[in-house]
Amino acid sequence: MSAHSTPIPMIAHKSGPLAGVAEVPGDKSISHRALILGALSVGETHITGLLEGEDVIDTAKAMRAFGATVTRVAEGDWRVNGVGVGGFAEPTQVIDCGNSGTGVRLIMGAMATTPIAATFTGDASLNKRPMGRITDPLALFGARAVGRAGGRLPLTLVGAVDPVPVRYTLPMPSAQVKSAVLLAGLNAPGETVVIEPEPTRDHTERMLRGFGAEIDVTDSAEGRVITLKGQPDLTGQSVAVPRDPSSAAFPVCAAILVPGSEITVPGVSRNPTRDGLYITLIEMGADIAFENPRDEGGEPVADLRVKYSPALKGVTTPAERAASMIDEFPILSVVAAMAQGTTVMQGVKELRVKESDRIDAMARGLEACGVTLEETEDTLTIHGTGAVPGGAVCESRLDHRIAMSFLVLGLVADQPVAVDDGAPIATSFPVFEPLMAGLGARIERTAP
Ligand code: S3P
Repeated sequence: MSAHSTPIPMIAHKSGPLAGVAEVPGDKSISHRALILGALSVGETHITGLLEGEDVIDTAKAMRAFGATVTRVAEGDWRVNGVGVGGFAEPTQVIDCGNSGTGVRLIMGAMATTPIAATFTGDASLNKRPMGRITDPLALFGARAVGRAGGRLPLTLVGAVDPVPVRYTLPMPSAQVKSAVLLAGLNAPGETVVIEPEPTRDHTERMLRGFGAEIDVTDSAEGRVITLKGQPDLTGQSVAVPRDPSSAAFPVCAAILVPGSEITVPGVSRNPTRDGLYITLIEMGADIAFENPRDEGGEPVADLRVKYSPALKGVTTPAERAASMIDEFPILSVVAAMAQGTTVMQGVKELRVKESDRIDAMARGLEACGVTLEETEDTLTIHGTGAVPGGAVCESRLDHRIAMSFLVLGLVADQPVAVDDGAPIATSFPVFEPLMAGLGARIERTAP
């Protein structure tokens, strides 16, 4: 998201039943990866269903700056003519990744083993986020980073001239760190090995294999061991991007909470490394059916049929599930507030370094709406009573998922719920407003 975009205050009112088909946009994680791997391949990559949110558009611009030809043919339909592994050119401009941690971290990995330099920056949110978790493993390949204190952006990365392969155990469950190391490993000779003690989303591994890399994944006592053979010839592919389960979460949770609702969300990814929210909602008593399960472009997908679910109950989400629902805790905390009983979210400290500190952002906004809760560094506990008073203006803190979560709360709270700025929603879900309005949700922009 542009650092200078004008705030868009928004408000959500109690709404009648939601009904219809919610065609949510393409998966953000897969969209970034399709552009980056397309740029690192020889020949043409054809992407359909690409998310045209600001985060992904920033990655498309970055791939052009590194020398790839990236063309929009029609809505969601993009072509990338890549430069091949090791073929990135040195950008002549600063790479602005806007709001996107995924974009900047994966791109830093992709260039770290090429002998070029690039300077990265982002918006006020991204420039606060930790980058040492990326630059530390990239230094093992021979890359050098100079950034602000604490490894913050803006940061210049100088790629390794003679990269060496790396064996790296992830110190935190992060698909971004794993992916940065694997993408760097592409242009290092020999085998790069990443060990993840806790599994995280595996789109990079799946897509690398699809583009022709030799990549082996085995389970061991240490965790998942991912071995990539360096310097492969990647060739352009067709990539059909499934709909984003993290975006689907907003209309799905809205339909569960708004009395009388019934919606369908077609073609949503059901990748097991992304499925934690859906497992949790079913444990809480949600009425969700997964219809027409099928495989699309190497990813499992299904059509979701979701009905209003009275009598939701509080649950505990165990720490080992956190990575598979890491982006869904803000909206889960809204569902938890509307359920009966206590929901405990365990092992969630990574939420503190997302687009905002999501534990603090949700806790302060929910408290302002009359919800009782407790937080520790690593947990969020919500005491649900089946109703939320609402009637507050919540801060979205440059965080799309915080803004959308509070707007969903406003559809069921006793009094309307407002957010100070809905502009960040465009980073991941640019059609959120018309899509929700089409289902019958009363969400409006208000005068600043
Ligand atoms: C993502 C990984 C997750 C997630 C982010 C997208 C990815 O971040 O929160 O929205 O596409 O790899 P972490 O790797 O920091 O957990």
